[in-house]
Amino acid sequence: MTSTRITAAALLLVAALQPPSFQAQAQTQSSLPTQIPQRNAILVGTAWYPEQWPESRWEEDLRFMEAANIKVVRVSEFAWSALEPSEGHYDMDWLEHAIAAAAKHHIVTVLGTPTATPPAWLTHKYPEILRVEPDGRRVTHGNRAHASATSPVYREYCRKIAEEMGKRFGHNPNVVGWQIDNEYGYALMSYDDLTQKKFQEWLQAKYKTLENLNVLWTTAYWSQTYDDWSEIPIPVGGHNPGLQLEWKRFVTKTWNDYQGNQIEVIRKLSDSRQFVTGNLMGFFDGFDHYIITEPLTFASWDDYVGSGHVDPDFNGLSHDLTRGFKRENFWVMETQPGAVNWAGVNNFLNKGEVRAMAWQAIAHGADEVGYWQWRSALNGQEQYHGTLVGPDGTPVPMYNEVRQIGQEFAKVQEAFRGTTVHSDVALLYSYDSHWAIQFQKHTDKYDDIALLKSYYRALRKLAQSVDVVSAYAPLYTYKLVAAPDLNVLPKDLADRLLTYVRNGGHLVLGPRSGLKDEHNELLPQRQPGYLTDALGGRVEQYYALEKDVSVHGDWGTGQASIWAEQLSLLHPGPKTLMQYGKSNGWLDDQPAVLTTTYGKGTLTYIGAVLDDRLMKAAADWMVKIGGVVPAFMAVPEGVEVSVRSGAGKKVVVLINFAAESRRVELGKAMKMLLRERQAASVELGPYDVEIIEPL
Ligand code: GLA
Repeated sequence: MTSTRITAAALLLVAALQPPSFQAQAQTQSSLPTQIPQRNAILVGTAWYPEQWPESRWEEDLRFMEAANIKVVRVSEFAWSALEPSEGHYDMDWLEHAIAAAAKHHIVTVLGTPTATPPAWLTHKYPEILRVEPDGRRVTHGNRAHASATSPVYREYCRKIAEEMGKRFGHNPNVVGWQIDNEYGYALMSYDDLTQKKFQEWLQAKYKTLENLNVLWTTAYWSQTYDDWSEIPIPVGGHNPGLQLEWKRFVTKTWNDYQGNQIEVIRKLSDSRQFVTGNLMGFFDGFDHYIITEPLTFASWDDYVGSGHVDPDFNGLSHDLTRGFKRENFWVMETQPGAVNWAGVNNFLNKGEVRAMAWQAIAHGADEVGYWQWRSALNGQEQYHGTLVGPDGTPVPMYNEVRQIGQEFAKVQEAFRGTTVHSDVALLYSYDSHWAIQFQKHTDKYDDIALLKSYYRALRKLAQSVDVVSAYAPLYTYKLVAAPDLNVLPKDLADRLLTYVRNGGHLVLGPRSGLKDEHNELLPQRQPGYLTDALGGRVEQYYALEKDVSVHGDWGTGQASIWAEQLSLLHPGPKTLMQYGKSNGWLDDQPAVLTTTYGKGTLTYIGAVLDDRLMKAAADWMVKIGGVVPAFMAVPEGVEVSVRSGAGKKVVVLINFAAESRRVELGKAMKMLLRERQAASVELGPYDVEIIEPL
C-alpha cells in the first residue's frame, strides 16, 4: 500500500535545499496519510466541474475559492466524454490547465477517475456493457452508474482511461491524490448472464464441490438441491439465506476487483505521495466496507443529511464508522452546502449548521471537508442542489459560512497536525451480521443500525470517544467492547473474542448475537453459540414483541421493545442483572441480562432492545466495569466534546448542538483557539464551536 508519508531524512534533505519560508513549512509535516505534506493539516475543499464551463470562466471561480480558503478541488469524476471525446482520442490538456490554474490559487487537486459515467460512444458501441436490472430490463444511457462492473469490456476501457490519466498526472506536483470512480456505482450489479456465470464460478472456487454447498445451504429444504453450478441463480429477494449472503460477498468482491483494476495502473504510474481513496456513503450496505477500503490509502465518505437536520449522534457514529474502516483518519469528500436535491423535502440546513457539521467531521478524525458542489451545471439532473456560487457565478449566502469554516481551519490547523482519535471503547460492526438480520428481520421494527446507535449514544456520552470497528479488528487496546448485533458469529470469531475477554477485556453482546455461522446457517447450539459455555447461560427463546415489556434489576426499571430473549443460566455462576416483568407468560420473571467473569475479564449478554433510560444505565455500568473514564470532562447536555491527540498534542473540539446556549465550565483556564483567549469557561450559542488546547 502506498502512503503519502515522507521520511524524516528525506524531509531534512529537501528542506536544506529550499529557501527559508519552505523550510519553516517543511518542519510541520505529519505522518498521517490524510494530511498532505506542505499543506495545512485540515482543509476545506469543493467539487469543481471545469469541463462544464469555458476556460475563460475558471479564473473567477478560483479567485472566489481562494477567498473562501478552499484548498482542495476534486475534479473529473464525471468527465469521461471530455477526457476521451472519441475512442482512443484523449484530450487532457484542459484538465492540465485546470489543475495549473487551481495551483496558482494555492489549491491542490484530487482527480476522480470518470468511470461512473461511461461516454455515449462507448455504450453505443458496446450496448452489452449497460447494466441489466433485476427485472431483466437493460438500462439506457444518460444517467450514471449505468455500466456493468463485471463486464470485461467495460473494465478494459476503465483501465485505459485510468492509465491515460495516470500517465498524464501521476507526477503532477499539484495532484495530491485520486478518487476511484464515484460512490462505486452504489454497488449496483448487472443481472445478466455473464454476472451469473461469474458468480457461479466464484462459488465453485469457494465451495469446491456442490455437495459441500448443498449441505452448507441446506438445499434439501424446498428442493433447492443443485446438480450443476449453472443452476445457481442470482438472488433477487426471498432466496436462501446462504445464497443471499454469498451474493453480498460476491458483490463486494466484484467492486473490489473493479477498483483494483484502476488502482493497479494508477499506483504504477503515480508518485507514492499521491493517495488513492474512494468516496463511500456511511452506512450504505451494498458491500463490505472493511474489504473495499483495504487497498485504499485512506477512506473518504459523502456526508449528506437529506431531509431535516443533522442528528449529531448518527452523524458522529457515521464518521466513527468511516474512521474504523481502516482505523485511521479519513476525508469527508462531499457534504451538502445547505441543501440536497434528492430527498423528500430538500430543506436547507440552518445558519451555522454546516459549520457545526464541518467541525464535527474534524472532531471525529476527518482532515478534509469537501462541499458538493461549487456551482450547478446550467442543465443536468442536479440543478437544484446546494452550491457555493449561483448560476450567475457569484457567491450565494452559504459561501460566507464556508469561508468562515475555511478561515477557522486555516487558523487552528497546526493544533490538529499529526492528531487522531483514540478510544477506550469499541463497538463492533459486522456487514455479515447486518445483512443476515436484514434478510430475515423477523419484525419490521428491528433496525440493527438503530440499536448500534442507541449503544453508541449512551456510551459516547460517557466515554466521549468511541471507535466503531470490524468484529475482526484487534481489540487488545480497548477497555470495553460492545457488539450490539453480532448475529453471524463463527467459531474463529468467537475464539478471538474469548481471547480478548480471557486477557482482561470486557465484552458486551446484544440481542440476536451468536445465532449464525459464516454460511448464514443456524448454529447447532443456542445463542450466543460458541460463547454459550463461557457465558454460562443461553437464549431459551427469542420473541418479536408486539408491545413493550417491563424489565427491572440492577440498571433500574424500564421497558424492552421490539425484541426480547428469554435467557437461562446453565449453572449458578453468571449473575442476572436484569429480568423481565409480566409479559407473554414465557418471559415473565426470566433473565434479560446475564454477566459473568471469564478469565481476567467479563462477558455480558443483553437479550433485549432497551429503552433510552435503561441503555444509559447499562452504559454507566459498562464503563464502570471497563474502568473507562471520559476523554475530557463533563459537558452540558447537547454539547458534543471530542478529543484528538498525537504528535505530543491534545486538542479538544466543543460543539453545541442544542437549540439554546450552553456554558461549558472547564475547571481551570484553557487556551481557546477560535476565540483567541484563555478562560475557565466558554459560552456556546446554538451550533457554536470552540477548539481548546488544554494547558
Ligand atoms: C453524491 C454524488 C455527487 C452528487 C451528490 C448530491 O454524493 O457523489 O455526485 O450527486 O450525491 O448530493
